[in-house]
Amino acid sequence: MIRAAILTVSDSCTQGKREDISGQTLKDMLAQGEFEVAEYRVVADSCEKIAGELKHFCDEVRVDVVLTTGGTGLGPRDVTPEATASVCERMVPGLCEMMRAESLRKTPNAVLSRAVAGIRKNTLIINLPGSSRAVRECLKMILDVLPHAVKMLHGGGH
Ligand code: MTE
Repeated sequence: MIRAAILTVSDSCTQGKREDISGQTLKDMLAQGEFEVAEYRVVADSCEKIAGELKHFCDEVRVDVVLTTGGTGLGPRDVTPEATASVCERMVPGLCEMMRAESLRKTPNAVLSRAVAGIRKNTLIINLPGSSRAVRECLKMILDVLPHAVKMLHGGGH
């Protein structure tokens, strides 16, 4: 089983103004595969708070994969990519390059996601956009490469 954590980044969800449908979508999709969701949290659009949650997932819970949703756009409070990059030791650009390229076939707005992916210790962190539609579409695109990615993270061969 691949151990995963989900981080929903949303001011309105933390304030109880909006239901976290995207986080739930991620949970449901992961449950269908070889994943175990070890933790799920919702955090405000604050670079410091996001970085804190990511460190908790990587350093304490030590999950294999963290999936974030939200805060990747151009809004003044969208800082998920910066928070992610600040805690990563190495970046993995290909994952988000693929998501943006594939997403472009569905909507030109795909170029507006600044999502990044990277590695902290033995954990792969991947940003996904915020809408539940985008989350569903993007996770589907990368789901098949995750088992091999995790194997490599743990020192497995190519
Ligand atoms: N990618 C896919 N596959 N499907 C989508 O509907 N929406 C886009 C983009 N990527 C979308 C997508 C839109 S409208 C925005 S603004 C950006 O993701 C950033 O979203 P975020 O700020 O909620 O993270």
